[in-house]
Amino acid sequence: MNLFRQLSLHEKLSEDIMGSKLQFLTDEFGNRTGVVVPIEEWQKSQPSSPSSADLHPDLVRVIVGADEIHQRVQTLAAQISSDYAGVGRLYLVGILKGAFIFLADLARELSIPHIVDFMALSSYGKTTTSGAVRILMDLREPIEGQHVLIVEDILDTGHTLSYLYRNLKDRNPASIRTCILTSKRRPNPPADVPIDYLGFEIPDVWVVGYGLDFADRHRTLPYIAEIKKTV
Ligand code: PRP
Repeated sequence: MNLFRQLSLHEKLSEDIMGSKLQFLTDEFGNRTGVVVPIEEWQKSQPSSPSSADLHPDLVRVIVGADEIHQRVQTLAAQISSDYAGVGRLYLVGILKGAFIFLADLARELSIPHIVDFMALSSYGKTTTSGAVRILMDLREPIEGQHVLIVEDILDTGHTLSYLYRNLKDRNPASIRTCILTSKRRPNPPADVPIDYLGFEIPDVWVVGYGLDFADRHRTLPYIAEIKKTV
């Protein structure tokens, strides 16, 4: 099967790709708006994980590479699309800021009707047991009677998701589930947090990339990496 990927004309094309047969997309006036290349050739040209020598000095190692994330997101989206087939519309709730990249990629892989909304939360006392969570930005619409899927980037102490799940459940959705990109393997995992879809279980280390940050740094790396504790 031949798979193709549409690239923006601004995307840097390697010589390999430039040497292959290019098919240009044009707008109604004949202006070139994009180019389509065989996906295998595009993938070959993309470094999905840098070698350790090429890593930013803040980082220790790559934990999940870009290709692995891409494949897992496709698998999760296929599973979700199958599970929700025929239920009408899925209401995706992305938790800012960390989930914005995961949500964007996941939503674009879904084959079922869906809408996207966001919430922003702040949590206090991550290193304590208090775990107080506050809503900084709420959903735009009531979710009563909707099929809600919470999309989060990481489950660490579980305080954020635990609070959010109870809060949204109280709004009487038709159903509520969670889709979490990464969950830390902790000695005492949070008990009252339901995980319906999980991307990756990761070691209990500080991680950045693919939406995850450290003091807002390294959020847009295409892979997930461990960051040094000394940063
Ligand atoms: C992170 C992450 C989750 C939460 C998980 O958010 O995006 O929402 O922490 O941690 P927990 O399981 O211990 O509650 P953060 O507060 O760092 O904000 P950000 O997403 O805006 O970076």
